[in-house]
Amino acid sequence: MNACEVLCVVGARPNFMKIAPIMAAFAARPVQARLVHTGQHYDAAMSDGFFEQLGIPRPHVNLEVGSATHAVQTAEIMRAFEPVLDQEAPRAVLVVGDVNSTIACALVAAKKCVPVIHVEAGLRSYDRRMPEEINRVLTDQISDLLFTTERGALDNLRREGIAPERVHFVGNVMIDTLRRNLERAVPVGQTLGHRPAGGYAVLTLHRPSNVDDRDTLAGLLDAVGRIASRLPVIFPIHPRTRAAAERLGLSARLEQPGIRLLPPVGYLEMLGLTREATVVLTDSGGLQEETTALGVPCITLRENTERPVTLTEGTNTLTGPDPEKILQCFADILTSGGKRGRIPEHWDGRASERIAAILRDWLDA
Ligand code: UD1
Repeated sequence: MNACEVLCVVGARPNFMKIAPIMAAFAARPVQARLVHTGQHYDAAMSDGFFEQLGIPRPHVNLEVGSATHAVQTAEIMRAFEPVLDQEAPRAVLVVGDVNSTIACALVAAKKCVPVIHVEAGLRSYDRRMPEEINRVLTDQISDLLFTTERGALDNLRREGIAPERVHFVGNVMIDTLRRNLERAVPVGQTLGHRPAGGYAVLTLHRPSNVDDRDTLAGLLDAVGRIASRLPVIFPIHPRTRAAAERLGLSARLEQPGIRLLPPVGYLEMLGLTREATVVLTDSGGLQEETTALGVPCITLRENTERPVTLTEGTNTLTGPDPEKILQCFADILTSGGKRGRIPEHWDGRASERIAAILRDWLDA
């Protein structure tokens, strides 16, 4: 058997919770897999801590590319990944999600005629101003095997001419990780003095469209300040957002009464925070899904979402960055408790097992 059948790639924080159950399912099946970390995220709080908490095997290699513009970061990942791919000579390359590491490594593999496997395929916001949307569309186009998290993803892929035989609806690997770790979640809210179920809001914010423009970020932080006057807001702040607030002269608005700033927190801490929150306000993709899985109301500070099942079946509501809409939605949730929601199909903790089974058959065919 080949020493490495599938070369798996991670790079940025949201990749780690997706790869963890996949590596475990590959070890069990078995599928011979090795892991490459591109180093897109590199701070301990953004990377190493997740490997420790989630028991992800140590990466075989770290490309250590770090931060740069999109063009430079993507190019550096490609340049560093190519010799690793040549050396490992895997049967396939597996990428997850929609970050720059995803498209960069998929592109290197496809050009070398190494089959590409994309986990979390077919999600579309139909907003090409989002860098992740470009990454999604392009990665799917050059993938040979596409694993989807929700049924609607197949329609998106069909519209782009992707053969349905290549697409498998397996469910959500991030929810595998959530279910596996719920018991271990760290009750950070209680440690900070909040009562066990609720009594605070959680905020995350990092999309360029929300944090890079002064008026938008100022409006968002004003809305958060008004929310914090009614309910404490716990805000683990992304390094990009902290840097943007400083650059735009908005740091004082992070210090408003009722806002509790934290550095980026680990997976188990975030799970603990989310699980017991009254409401989550976010522009993250993953948190929209995690709140739906946990039945916690979510206000998404974006105009669109690539994860529509969280709106139609889950607890998610889109407000965009408009302060009035955010405050109205927040008030509705305090009054009514928010959308009830149900767990979407196949978000049952077994997505990675399904992937490993399909992949084993595919490799053996
Ligand atoms: C990336 C992903 C985004 C994902 C997000 C989660 C792309 C296009 N974007 O955005 O989809 O939701 O990760 O975090 O791939 N930085 C640090 N330490 C780190 C990493 C980054 O301080 O370990 C700072 C740097 O100032 C860097 C900035 O964060 O310039 C942005 O990092 P980058 O990887 O370019 O994008 P994210 O905004 O994190």
